Amino acid sequence: MKSPTGCPVSPEAAAFDPFGASYQLDPAEALRWSREQEPVFYSPKLGYWVVNRFDDVKAVFRDNITFSPSIALEKLTPAPPEATKILESYGFAMRRTMVNEDEPDHMERRRLLMDAFLPENLEQHETWVRELVRDYMDRFIDKGRADLVGEMFREIPMTVALRFLGVPHEDAKELRKFSVAHTLNTWGRPSPEQQLQIAEDVGRFWKTAQDILDRMYAEPTGEGWMYDSIRMHKVHPDIVPESYLRSMMMAILVAAHETTAFATTNAFRTLLSNRESWNDICENPALIPSAIEECLRVAGSVVAWRRIATADTVVGGEKIPKGGKLLIVQASANRDQSHFENPDNFDIYRHNAAEHLTFGYGAHQCMGKNIARMEMRVILDEFVRRLPHVHLVEDQTFEYLPNTSFRGATSLWVEWEPAQNPERRTRSVLENPTHFHIGAPIKDDILRRVVVTEVEREAEAVIRIDLVDPHGRELPDWSPGSHVELVSGEWRRYYSLCGTRGDRSRLSFAILREPEGRGGSVHFHDTVKPGDVLHIAGPKNHFHLDETATRYTLIAGGIGITPILAMADRLKALGKPYTLHYCGAGRRTMAFLDRVERDHGAALTVHAGDEGCRLDLPRVLGGLSEGEQVYSCGPERMLEVLESLAVNWPEGTLHVEHFTARSSILDPANEHAFEAVLADSELTVQVGNDQTLLEALTAAGVDVPSDCCEGLCGTCEVAVVEGHIDHRDLVLSRTERDANGRMMACCSRAKGKRLVLSL
Ligand code: HEM
Ligand code: FES
Repeated sequence: MKSPTGCPVSPEAAAFDPFGASYQLDPAEALRWSREQEPVFYSPKLGYWVVNRFDDVKAVFRDNITFSPSIALEKLTPAPPEATKILESYGFAMRRTMVNEDEPDHMERRRLLMDAFLPENLEQHETWVRELVRDYMDRFIDKGRADLVGEMFREIPMTVALRFLGVPHEDAKELRKFSVAHTLNTWGRPSPEQQLQIAEDVGRFWKTAQDILDRMYAEPTGEGWMYDSIRMHKVHPDIVPESYLRSMMMAILVAAHETTAFATTNAFRTLLSNRESWNDICENPALIPSAIEECLRVAGSVVAWRRIATADTVVGGEKIPKGGKLLIVQASANRDQSHFENPDNFDIYRHNAAEHLTFGYGAHQCMGKNIARMEMRVILDEFVRRLPHVHLVEDQTFEYLPNTSFRGATSLWVEWEPAQNPERRTRSVLENPTHFHIGAPIKDDILRRVVVTEVEREAEAVIRIDLVDPHGRELPDWSPGSHVELVSGEWRRYYSLCGTRGDRSRLSFAILREPEGRGGSVHFHDTVKPGDVLHIAGPKNHFHLDETATRYTLIAGGIGITPILAMADRLKALGKPYTLHYCGAGRRTMAFLDRVERDHGAALTVHAGDEGCRLDLPRVLGGLSEGEQVYSCGPERMLEVLESLAVNWPEGTLHVEHFTARSSILDPANEHAFEAVLADSELTVQVGNDQTLLEALTAAGVDVPSDCCEGLCGTCEVAVVEGHIDHRDLVLSRTERDANGRMMACCSRAKGKRLVLSL
């Protein structure tokens, strides 16, 4: 069997069936083989190219010119003539809306209709959404058993969508019935007989939607996004044509309803099946936003989307001919280990979970993502307060609507003991609900509770702290160069991990007391004791060890030994050749010296200042061999010397970790405002002189992941297409800065008035 480009189709690709049980149950698992062996393949059963890896899926989403979204709502299974006749009898005339419109029409329309979706305009909805959720919960809270899908999750997103759109309440009931039919009609493989019933339902859905629209149209003074669209149509009939209004009236309900209902179902199922995570969010509801992103990553409700190639092109090394149709599988991309560490683990503390592709990416990225997030957060917050003891009914079977793209069980039975409902003891559970900000999770909220088991003196002014999970659970795995952010009250500081890798029972790091510092180290030295409960963010790694180099030189200055020691341990375990230079003011100040001498004595040179044995960097680095890499962590002046020596080294030779940012305070008096043009999303964002680029992007509803917000970690990197960058970070090397292609949005700015970003 051959693909349209004449290449042989592998047996796995030939067998792939998106309507088969394995894909329906767990699309990411069903496509594991593809991520590993054949990331882009042609599926003869579907007639589509199936794209699986994170970078490829994102690249296809990003380029909506080469990969047109025009087929996004095309019927996957063509209708028989009888079904088409039924649809015609209802006047069915679905045309392009937003999600399947090409440029330039799409962006012009999206811009005109974006306002209601901006974070600042969504805030107002949270209160009534919470009231709605409470009202639904009141109906079953004393029963002890409920099908959450039937009794709540299908209802709330529809009600929220209708209110957001401005659809009069009395019309809502009728619309609820039909959206399932639309899903099967578009993404399913119904039999010819089912097609007729589906056509009947879709026809009625269309007709009802049109009747409602006609009434709204006749009196377009109401509030809501559909009214906004009608008013825009009157002013700009060329950009917002009537055919758009008619089609959108139906399409938006599917976009907003099924997606959110399924996502909520999947999130509850996932969290209740991972009881420890559920308990963690009950204990600390501030974790809800990050838990939801992790649920959207591992169990998203939109698992695959479609595009069509408008020219001969290449995706993931595979040639795709013009006209080739693509099924881009977000569920698979979301479990790609090249982007998500330990991708099969469900981890509500995962720092980059919000980078999942469940909402798509680029110019067409879901406009309603922040509405969906808000609804899901409020629902979950009400549950962890009012029914923390809820659990899944055992041995229930889950069913799915057979289709390629929308995934969620059609029922979810849960049970609880009403006598244990917290509100029977105190009504205070209903007071002070968590207020969630609109948008991607705030990284400061993604904190894990830990208990201090040991505080040991490792050298003069250096203590080592060991942490364990309060419930004795395993802590996350980490790699050399990883750090955690230690949080206690208002204090937050980064510390590199230096314990025994693979020992998941504890995390260890060391803190140097710095009386001249910003106060964090002194606070931790003076207050932390065994038994204390602290919080950490991470582990995260922005100082990766490339294990493929031929040789290594490791250079540690003072407390910089912590990440370097973990690297030396790893290199020794791998049997790689390395030398280790450890410098400090004197042996008494050098932490872990005994361990370093014991484990790395053969590779070690100690440079103790008080013994007159200073590190001569130019000499040590004079004879680097080909393919050798240098890793260093230490005081700023040492790293500056290193960076100046490395100016002419091949890219990727020097890797350094800085302790502190050079300057992270924004002084509006010395800054100028500039414009950031987002080429992928076709948006223009104004960055004030009192704002960082990151803040301006977040306010415009564009998710850019961030972590340190000080230019240290590299998380907020964005690609720059045009304009001169004023680099202020400590992440990029000189060559990378000179290339002018990447910047850190949390601190770097524009030299001129404008930057064009690939976002
Ligand atoms: C587009 C997913 C909720 C409105 C999309 C796309 C996806 C998606 C995958 C296509 C993205 C692309 O082509 O790059 C989801 C998921 C949701 C959700 C998983 C819930 C968890 C909502 C809600 C609304 C909404 C609640 C509205 C109230 C839209 C609109 C578009 C869209 C208008 C078209 C954007 C464009 O093409 O410019 N959504 N969606 N979605 N979604 Fe959502
Ligand atoms: Fe860390 Fe910007 S968030 S460099």
